[in-house]
Amino acid sequence: MGLMEAIMISSFAFQFWYHNRASLCPAVRVLLNRIHSIETNMFAAAVKKLFYKKKVNHQAVLTILYGGQSGNSAFLAKEAKKYLQRNAFTPRVVNMAKYDFRQLGEEEHLLVLVSTHGEGEPPESASRFYRFLFSEEAPRLNRLNFAVCALGDSSYEYFCQTGKDMDRRFQELGGTRLHDRVDCDVEFHQTAAQWLSGVLSVLQNHGGEKAETLQIEAETQRETFQAVIREKYRLNEGPDSATFHVVLSVDHRDFSYQPGDSVSIVPRNPDSLVQLVLRRLGYTEDVEVNYDDDSHSFQWLLTHSFELTTLSKGLLNRYQAIAKSSGLEALLANEKTLNRYLQDHDVADLFADFPSQAGPGELVFVFRKLQARLYSIASSWAAHPGEVHLTIRQVCFFKRGRKREGACSGYLNQWLEVGESLPIQLVPNEQFRLPAQPETPVIMIGAGTGVAPFRAFMQERARQQASSKNWLFFGEKRQQHDFFYRENWANWLSTGRLSRLDLAFSRDRDEKVYVQHKIRQEGTTFFEWLNHGAHVYVCGSVAMGHAVRDTIRELVEAAGNLSEKESENYLNSLMEEGRWHVDVY
Ligand SMILES: Cc1cc2nc3c(=O)[nH]c(=O)nc-3n(C[C@H](O)[C@H](O)[C@H](O)COP(=O)(O)OP(=O)(O)OC[C@H]3O[C@@H](n4cnc5c(N)ncnc54)[C@H](O)[C@@H]3O)c2cc1C
Ligand SMILES: NC(=O)c1ccc[n+]([C@@H]2O[C@H](COP(=O)([O-])OP(=O)(O)OC[C@H]3O[C@@H](n4cnc5c(N)ncnc54)[C@H](OP(=O)(O)O)[C@@H]3O)[C@@H](O)[C@H]2O)c1
Ligand SMILES: Cc1cc2nc3c(=O)[nH]c(=O)nc-3n(C[C@H](O)[C@H](O)[C@H](O)COP(=O)(O)O)c2cc1C
Repeated sequence: MGLMEAIMISSFAFQFWYHNRASLCPAVRVLLNRIHSIETNMFAAAVKKLFYKKKVNHQAVLTILYGGQSGNSAFLAKEAKKYLQRNAFTPRVVNMAKYDFRQLGEEEHLLVLVSTHGEGEPPESASRFYRFLFSEEAPRLNRLNFAVCALGDSSYEYFCQTGKDMDRRFQELGGTRLHDRVDCDVEFHQTAAQWLSGVLSVLQNHGGEKAETLQIEAETQRETFQAVIREKYRLNEGPDSATFHVVLSVDHRDFSYQPGDSVSIVPRNPDSLVQLVLRRLGYTEDVEVNYDDDSHSFQWLLTHSFELTTLSKGLLNRYQAIAKSSGLEALLANEKTLNRYLQDHDVADLFADFPSQAGPGELVFVFRKLQARLYSIASSWAAHPGEVHLTIRQVCFFKRGRKREGACSGYLNQWLEVGESLPIQLVPNEQFRLPAQPETPVIMIGAGTGVAPFRAFMQERARQQASSKNWLFFGEKRQQHDFFYRENWANWLSTGRLSRLDLAFSRDRDEKVYVQHKIRQEGTTFFEWLNHGAHVYVCGSVAMGHAVRDTIRELVEAAGNLSEKESENYLNSLMEEGRWHVDVY
C-alpha cells in the first residue's frame, strides 16, 4: 500500500468516527476533535508534499500577474520579481491589461496580485482578464499552481472582492493552490511580504523551514516631498460644492511627474471635530496616552493620526468589543442599516450614539489610521516646472444639524493658508499616459474633478507642439457656475490644439445631460476617431465610468454594424493595444 492510499484510508476512517461522534461521551468527542484536526492538517501536508516532492525547477515557468489602478499591485509585483530572482527563480511580470489569455492554460506557477476598485469590482486593468476568467472560454487549469494576494481596504463593503473571486475561480477551473490567499488591507506591505515568503517557502520545498524573510518597507514605495501652497482660488460660484484650484510648489531635484499622475496627501483633522470628539468622550485637552511606544497627547493623535471623518466596519467592531453596546450590536447585525450609517456618519456620531466608558489607552487601538487621499494632477511639469496644480472639490454636507467637511478637501481648500507647507507623495499612473506618438489622436472624457488630468494633457500637448487631434467631453452641473478652466479650453480651441469640446451640463435643463449622452450623439464621428487610432481616456466617478463604457460599446456596435460580442471584443482590443485608459474614483 502506497503513502497516498494509507492517508486516504486513515482519512476516511477518521471522517466516519468524526461524523458519528455525537453518540460518544464528551471526553472522547474532544479527543476525536483534536485527532480530526491534526489528521486533516497532516492529510493536507502529505498531499502538498506529494505535489512538491521536489523543489520547483528554478527554470520553471513562473508568472507574476498583477492588476491594479493606483500602483500598489504593480509595486508588489516588482518586489516579488526581485525577491524571487534573488532566490534563483526567473519570473516574468505581466500586467493583466496586456496578458495574452491563450497562455493561461499553459501556466504552471502563477502568482496573482490584484486589487479591488469601484464597488467591489476589478480595477479597469484587470477587468478584461476577470471577464475572461469567468467566461465559458476560460480553459481548464489542471497544470496550474497558483497563489493570490488580494489588495483592498477593509473600510469598503466588498473587501478584496476581486482577489477572492479570482482565487475561487482558479480552483474551480482545476488549479491547485500553492499557498493560501492573503487579503491585504491599506497597510499591505508587511502582509504581502509574509505571503511572498510563504510562497517562496513552498516553491523551495523547505518543508516547514522559513524561506529568506522578506521585508517590504512602505517608505521604499514612495518618497515624501515638502510642498508649499502657492496659490488657491475657487473655480466655481453658485450653490453647489465649492471647487478650488490649488497650486503647490515643490522645490526638490528628485521631484517631477508626468501627465496622468496623482499626488497622495495625508490630511489633518479639523480642530472643531477634534474638540467635539474630546467633549463626547468627556476627556480634557491634556490627556496623554501611550501609543507606538511613546507618550502622546490624545488631542494630537486625534488631529494627526486617526480617521475621524470616516467610519469603517472594522472600527465599529473594535469599538463594540469595549463598548458592549446593545444598540451598536444591533447596527452591526443589520448590513443595510450599517452601510447607510457608515456612509455619512463620523467618529463623533459614533461616540454620541453608542457611549462607553472606554479609556484613551483602549481607544487608540479602536481608531483607523488616518489615510492619504489621492488627487489627479491638473498641470504639466513641462509647462509648470516645480508646480503641481490640483482641482479639489470640497466635501461639505449637513447632517443632524452639524456641518460636515471632508478631512483632506477641507485641509487643502480651507485650513491651509497660502505659504503654508505640507508633505505630499507622487503616485505615478502608468496606465493613464498620453500616447508615445504626439500625433496620435486622443479623446478625453471627464466629469467634475475628473477633468483635472485633461488640463495636464492639453498643457503637455501644447508644449510638444503636437499636430494631433484632441477631443474633450466635459460634464459638470451648471454652465454658468461650473465651467472649470473655461479660458484654458477656449484658448486651446482658438489655437486649434483642442479640436473639439463637447459640454454636458446636467442641471441647466429639466432632464439630465451627461457626458455619455454627448458621446452617443456623436457616435459616428467617435467611431471614426477610434478607427483612426485614437486613445480613449475616462476620468471621474465610478458610475460615470460604467455608463461611458456601455455607451461606447453600444456606439461601436451600431456604427461598426457589429454584434454585441464583436463590439465587446473591439473594446477589449483597445485595452490590449493600450488605447483604453480609465481612472475612476
Ligand atoms: C485616483 C484618485 C484621484 C482623485 N482625484 C481627485 C481630484 O482630482 N479632485 C478631487 O476633489 N478628488 C479627487 N479624488 C477624491 C479624493 O481622493 C477624496 O476622496 C476626496 O477629496 C474626499 O476626501 P476628504 O478627505 O475631503 O473627505 P473625507 O474626510 O474622506 O470624507 C468623505 C466622507 O464624507 C461622506 N460624504 C461625502 N459627501 C457626502 C454627502 N454629500 N452626503 C453625505 N456624505 C457624504 C463620504 O461617504 C465619506 O464618508 C480622487 C480619488 C482617487 C482615488
Ligand atoms: N469620498 C468622497 O467623499 C468623495 C468626495 C468628493 C468626490 N468624490 C467622488 O469623486 C468623483 C467625482 O466627484 P465630483 O464631485 O468631482 O463630480 P460628480 O459628482 O461626478 O459630478 C460631476 C458631473 O457628473 C454628473 N454625473 C452624475 N452621475 C453621473 C453618471 N452616472 N454619469 C455621468 N455623469 C454623471 C453630475 O451630474 P448631477 O450631479 O447633476 O447628477 C455632474 O454634472 C465622484 O465619484 C465622487 O463621488 C468622493
Ligand atoms: C475608488 C476606489 C474604490 C475602491 N474600492 C474598493 C473595494 O470595493 N474593496 C476593497 O477592498 N478595496 C477598495 N479600494 C481600495 C484599493 O483596493 C486599495 O487601495 C489597493 O491597495 C489599491 O491597489 P492598486 O494600487 O494596485 O489598485 C478602492 C480604492 C479606490 C481608490
